[in-house]
Amino acid sequence: MFESNRCVIVVGSQWGDEGKGKVVDVLSESADLVVRYQGGANAGHTVVIGDEEFVLHQIPSGILHEGTGCVIGNGVVLDPETLVDEIDGLAGRGIVLGDRLSISDRAHLVMPYHKQLERAAEKKQRIGTTGRGIGPTYEDKTGRRGVRAGDLLNVEAVKSRLEERVDSVNKTLEVRGSDERATLDENLDLLNRATSRIGRYISDTGALTYRTIKAGKNVLLEGAQGAMLDVDHGTYPFVTSSNTTAGGATIGAGIGPTSVDAVLGVVKAYTTRVGNGPFPSEALDESGDRLQKLGGEFGATTGRPRRCGWFDAVVLRYAVRVNGITHLAVTKLDVLDTFKEIRVCTGYVLDGEELSELPSDSAKLESVEPVYETHRGWEAPTDGCRSVGELPDAARKYLRRIEELSESKIQYIGVGVRRDQMIDVG
Ligand code: GDP
Ligand code: IMO
Ligand code: MG
Repeated sequence: MFESNRCVIVVGSQWGDEGKGKVVDVLSESADLVVRYQGGANAGHTVVIGDEEFVLHQIPSGILHEGTGCVIGNGVVLDPETLVDEIDGLAGRGIVLGDRLSISDRAHLVMPYHKQLERAAEKKQRIGTTGRGIGPTYEDKTGRRGVRAGDLLNVEAVKSRLEERVDSVNKTLEVRGSDERATLDENLDLLNRATSRIGRYISDTGALTYRTIKAGKNVLLEGAQGAMLDVDHGTYPFVTSSNTTAGGATIGAGIGPTSVDAVLGVVKAYTTRVGNGPFPSEALDESGDRLQKLGGEFGATTGRPRRCGWFDAVVLRYAVRVNGITHLAVTKLDVLDTFKEIRVCTGYVLDGEELSELPSDSAKLESVEPVYETHRGWEAPTDGCRSVGELPDAARKYLRRIEELSESKIQYIGVGVRRDQMIDVG
């Protein structure tokens, strides 16, 4: 994919956890730089190398390739404590960062009070967030009262701003009926600790990314979450607080849209969702339980069981449109290996009428009736397949149908967790 494309955006095409981490890891073999462009420690990107499993929350999934540089872009909301844990965890497993990590001076910081605000908010409006303070940090960013990574280089200068913010946060906590209170000391301590541990990684990463692309090198922009969790295009209000879609990638990486050559949409061969909100093709019967069990569907960040259901072509068609997806990576095909019958949702009916587009209103989406077609399962293992030709006929037919319904080309097929278990269609 890199032969003709130098800058590729990798996005989730469903509700997150599509296997972006694995896809980015595999593509990083030939990438010079991998940039995370939005979200924060709400993400959990799993990479399996041999018998070892790595779960990355903020550091890009390219870090497991020795020669690949990694950037935490300006669009990310960075949790310094989680990042230090992640750096130490990797060091403990022999992964040396050296000068490979760069953090944007424009990235906003998740402060302890953001998590307190989120806990108080979740008591009223249950979105089922990951509890990582993501929403309140983005609120402060757009409200122009945030603390940025660049501020770590002069903590003294933010002290009075922080004092004001702590006061106003405490008023909000009181109004929301929370017993928690923020303190200036705790928040200042966090900043000072962060300066000593991650201060040296902070720079203008947009300039680095631009220079790398200009030099003709390969750059991956790694998305977190998925299209249906995008704050504009997702199942609002049951979404995350950033633009997860490809449009957010260039904003969050600090480069322009003309630098991008391709958009790779990662999509599971079925569907999962963590947290609350509409999920038309959710399988609330025994097949949902089987998908959950066979797919090991537990959140990589919170450990919560993921809700499971059938492949939803309406969602993928929508994701193709809002992201401008040029290629697809279909993951976890192997999880369907033992199913006798596999269902695919091809449309929605609301009040007796077939909808041509995904409704923007979550209450409507909650009441749609999915229209299914049923495919014969292949009932044979695919985890050993290394080319399309080795896949069972029924599996190839299933994939062709996904291409037809989404009007996009499948470039990669995942048949297991390991690096070698990904077929490049060529
Ligand atoms: P991400 O958030 O999109 O990076 O995805 P997660 O890491 O949260 O969840 C995807 C899970 O599926 C992880 O446990 C991966 O190891 C696993 N996975 C990725 N691709 C495949 C695949 O093709 N087959 C199987 N069986 N598991 C996969
Ligand atoms: P990756 O990158 C799946 C979900 C949460 C909740 C909603 C809002 O691993 O695919 P937030 O904490 O972001 O305010 O929560 O979004 N969510 C994810 N679901 N994968 C993720 O990331 C997610 N990040 C957030 O469960 O429903
Ligand atoms: Mg995940």
